[in-house]
This record gives sequence, structure tokens and C-alpha cells, in this order.
Amino acid sequence: MSKIDLTDSLEKIPVKIFSSPQEGSVFVANEIASLIRAKEAAGKPCVIGLATGSTPKTMYAELVRMHREEGLSFKNVITFNLDQYYPMHKDALQSYHYFMRKNLFEQTDINPDNYHLPDGMVPKDQIKEHCLAYEKQIEAAGGLDLQILGIGVNGHIGFNEPGSGIYTKTRLINLDNSTRLANAYEFGNMSQVPRMAITMGISTILKSKSIILMAWGQNKAPVIQKAIEEDDTEDVPASLLQNHDDCLFVVDESAAGELTRFKSPWLTGECTWTDTVMKHAVVNLSLKLQKPILSLTNNDYNDNGLSDLLVEKGDAYAINLQVFYLLRDSITGWPGGKPTEQRSSHPERHDPFPKNVLLFSPHPDDDIISMGGTFMRLQDQGHHVHVAYQTSGNIAVTDEFVTRFIDFAVGFENMFDIDDTKSKNILDEAIEFLQHKKTSEKDTDTIRAIKGLIRRCEARATCKYVGLVEDHVHFMNLPFYETGTIEKNPLSRADIQQTIDLLNTLQPHQVYCAGDFADPHGTHKVCFDVILAALKEIKASNAEWIKDCWVWLYKGAWQEWDIAEIEMAVPLSPDQVIRKRNGIFIHQSQKDTVPFQGSDDREFWQRAEERNSNTAKIYARLGLTQYAAMEAFVRWKF
Ligand code: F6R
Repeated sequence: MSKIDLTDSLEKIPVKIFSSPQEGSVFVANEIASLIRAKEAAGKPCVIGLATGSTPKTMYAELVRMHREEGLSFKNVITFNLDQYYPMHKDALQSYHYFMRKNLFEQTDINPDNYHLPDGMVPKDQIKEHCLAYEKQIEAAGGLDLQILGIGVNGHIGFNEPGSGIYTKTRLINLDNSTRLANAYEFGNMSQVPRMAITMGISTILKSKSIILMAWGQNKAPVIQKAIEEDDTEDVPASLLQNHDDCLFVVDESAAGELTRFKSPWLTGECTWTDTVMKHAVVNLSLKLQKPILSLTNNDYNDNGLSDLLVEKGDAYAINLQVFYLLRDSITGWPGGKPTEQRSSHPERHDPFPKNVLLFSPHPDDDIISMGGTFMRLQDQGHHVHVAYQTSGNIAVTDEFVTRFIDFAVGFENMFDIDDTKSKNILDEAIEFLQHKKTSEKDTDTIRAIKGLIRRCEARATCKYVGLVEDHVHFMNLPFYETGTIEKNPLSRADIQQTIDLLNTLQPHQVYCAGDFADPHGTHKVCFDVILAALKEIKASNAEWIKDCWVWLYKGAWQEWDIAEIEMAVPLSPDQVIRKRNGIFIHQSQKDTVPFQGSDDREFWQRAEERNSNTAKIYARLGLTQYAAMEAFVRWKF
């Protein structure tokens, strides 16, 4: 593996940062391919330790592409996977055996005798023996040449949960609750996630001649920072990789975001003091010292590694004022621009008024959850607001919920003696399917259609509540989503074309979309990529309207922007908070429990309220006016 210089003294493991998970994945696939070819040329087998999960999927796809298009052969490759749930049959949809067969093994020429995974069905009293044999098999193959790793948000590698020591070997372990929650998306609900797993130990991993750990997305950023920059500790098992001398972390920009060289570049060497860097530094300083920005002193700057900024800008008060104004000017109750006031510091243009506004919502409730207050303000302030629901969101409706609607339909027919054979057949077939549905079984087209209809009705009701007219509501049902499983199709021409057509028809002055780069394989990211591809094509076609179109990003239900990143903060009054809450409540199918909830068990309205009130509180702590809540946006200059 090519060695990389450590950028500065704070980083204890070399890290290579890519602008996207795709580019990082191609890099790792190339490293693996070079190793396979080098070993083949030397007449030796290539022994690789493999990981599963969402992180390595694109890398496996690239290896498969290299096999098909560039003749990369796996005949000489022997693999050992890190782990397997326990108990878990190797053919179960969630088994890592199934994952590997589908994503790599069955798509290449690897000899089936050459791939190994821990057996998730080995009887309990034989587990120790099985684990020992696994270690012996690795040794007999000549030891691992390269180990590929992902990382859990709690710092686990393989399933070595916090507390796993440096001498641990392959063994049965209990999964952390946080891991079970994080992986719940692969299962129908949390109770179906196994409680145990067999995993290679830390010592097994450290024995590998080289190691590459991959991580994508903002939610991995805090643990990546800990593993790379802080002291090694069993509490963050990935930090134990600091003890290996040929280990490389391959991450995307979002996962690298908490490293000191990005988060506080002034602490790691020379730094160019742009407005953005200065805003970050001063906001961090104010929050750290719990002092409003306008109260920060020269000493505060000097004592916290910001003397360089003082030298450049003169004195604390000048810096304080500059950052205070930047924050103040981001606040507006007029997200579509204030028609009566022409102010260059306002986040939006006052002209034209009213604006054509197109709000893209990945799922049928992201609009109201993530920017409900702004949505209502835009409508109330007289803009021509349209909403485009990008996907049907049908997999997030429970079987119990759809059954209630089917019962209603049957009752309705009976009550009014409706004798329609087609409708009866559809309902009978739906009832029959639901009665015998197996855990994690894919829904029939009919059930998916009914679930989609339920969500459509909820979205339509929300739009009515906000005041939109019927023809301003667009249901796109983008094809990439319609697989009936958590696993989606790749983005296609049809998705992009549909988006281009809608944009060209509406010619919006403002586009709002979910800017979630955190989950590289999630629906929000694909929805964003579709819009981006569509906008780029329209721009290339020189359409006149696009020259006057601004794109604003909001964050989905899971995260919020860093305070210093926010370019438009829209305050909500206490009454608007309640109005927004009631708007979210309309999505009854998403209340209480939903399938694939992820690692946060709060309801969506709670997440939204806590997040919006938190943003308002942070603005107040920085010394700005205290609002009840705030929604936040960042402008995307494509
Ligand atoms: C998978 C494994 C785990 C994952 C980690 C990250 O074989 O051992 O350590 O690498 O949980 O999972 P994802 O990639 O889904 O975020």
C-alpha cells in the first residue's frame, strides 16, 4: 500500500480524503486489484479480510466492474469475512453470507471453496471450537494480506464493540444496543435484530499485513476524529488501529469533517481566514467559553489558539462585530425575500415577487418535518408554492396500518352494498397476503400501491392544511425507489428526466431540497443527486429561467447544519411551532412506530421540535435574539 505522510501531529493514523464515497470506493477497489495482481504475478494467493454493511457496497460494485470489464480475476483470492450475526442462517436475507454472495462472490470467478465466513448456525457448545478453527484457517492460508474494515458510530470494527481489548480473538459477542439500532434498517424492526454475533477479534485484525478502514458520511465524523486523533482506547476499538504500522483510513469529506485540520484549521498550521473560516472559529470560541460573541476579548482569542486571527484583523471587537453581523443577516422571516425591502445582506432577493417556489420532499413528510414553518411562511406570504414528493414512501407503512385501511374499504363496500368484483378481488388478495406474510417478506404490488396511496392522502391533507391548491401538489413516484425493499435501484435516466420535465414546467425562482449527504446509500442522497443531475442538464441546455433560480438545502429528519454553515435561518413563533406540529401529526402512518426507524427512537415531530428549538437556543447563546425555534438552510451554488 502506498504510504501517506501524516498531515500534522494530531493525526495518528494516515488518512486519505475523497470528495465522494464513490471516489473513495474506486481508490480502495484499485488498491485491492493491485494487490491481487501483484500476488498473482508472484505466484502466491491473495488473502483478504472482508467487511459488510453499507460502507463497502460501492467498492464491491467497482471490483465486480473490474472483473467484468478489465478481466480482474479472483481465482487466486482467498477471503475471510469479519463477522456474522448469531444466530443467522446463511441464506437469510440479512446474513452476511447472502450479502457477500450477492455483492461480490456470485458476480466474480472466486472459487466457492476459497471464501470463508463465520457460521451463524453453529451450535452454541461448538462456537469456541469454530472460532479457533477460523483463526487457524486464516493462518493456514498464510495470514491476511489486507483487511478491509468499516466502522460503527460507536467505534466498533468488525463487531468488536467498545470494551474489546487488543488481544481479543475470533469469538461470540453481544451486540451493543446502538449497533442493533443502527442495523435495524436491514430488518423489519428492532426486535428482529439478533443480539449476538461472531466476530474476528482485534488481535486477528491487527495481525493483517495491511489494513484499510473506510467511512462515509457526517454521522461517522465524530468517531473518525476520535479514532485518528485521540489516545488509543478500548472504548473506541478503531483507535487501537493506531498500533498498526500499515493502516490507512479512506474517508469522504463529510466523514473527515471533525478532524482538527478542518474543524479548527488554525490549530494545525497556516490558515486562510475567509469569512467562513472566521465564522466557524468565532462561533466555536463563543460556544466553548459560553460567552456571547460581542463579549469576546483579545485574551479569549489569544488563549484559544486564535492569536493569528487577531494579528490579521486587528482586534477582538472588529472580529466580533463582523461575525455578529454575518449571523444577524442570516435571520429572516421572509424566506422568499422581503418584497418591500431591498437589502443586499438579506439571504434572498426581494425581486421577483411573488416567486415560483418548488419544494422537493424525498418522502411524503420531509417537507413538513424539515421545513414546515418555512413552507407555511412562503405560502402565507403569497408565493406560488409547489411541492414535489419524490418517492412514494410506501415501505414505511406498517402492515397493521394498511390492514386498518383495507378493513375500512371492506366495511365501506358492505355498508353501501357495493358489488364490484374487481375491487372485491383486490381486497381479498390483499387480506390473504397480509394474513400469511412472513417476516421481512416483500409486499405484493397491490399492498405497495395501497401503502403508497395512504401516504399520498396524508401528504395531500398536509398541503391542504398549509393552503396549497390541488394542482400545486406533484407525486413523482421516482422509479429508483420502487423495489419494495430497503435496497433501492440505482438512479436512472427516467428519474432524472421526470425531474427535468417538472422543473422546466414550473420554472421555479427558488428550489428547496433535502441536502443530506450523510447517508450515501439512503433515499435522501439519491433524491438530491437526481435534482442535481437535472439542474445541471437544464443549465447546460442554457434555459433562460435557470439563470434566476436559487437552490436552498434543508436537512432531513436526522441532522442539522453546523451553526456556522447556516446561510438562512427562518424563525418560528410559538404558534407556528404548534401549527407545524399539527401538520406533522397529519402523517398518521408515521406516528408512534414506523418500520426502519433507524437509531433514533423519538417520533418525527419530537426530533423536528428539538432540533428547531436547539438552533434558536444556539443563536441566543451567541448573543442574538432568542426565538422559539428556527429552521435552517444553506444555499447550493451549482
Ligand atoms: C461489517 C462490520 C461492521 C461494519 C460497521 C459499519 O462486517 O463488521 O463493523 O463495518 O458496523 O457499518 P455500515 O457500513 O453499515 O455503516
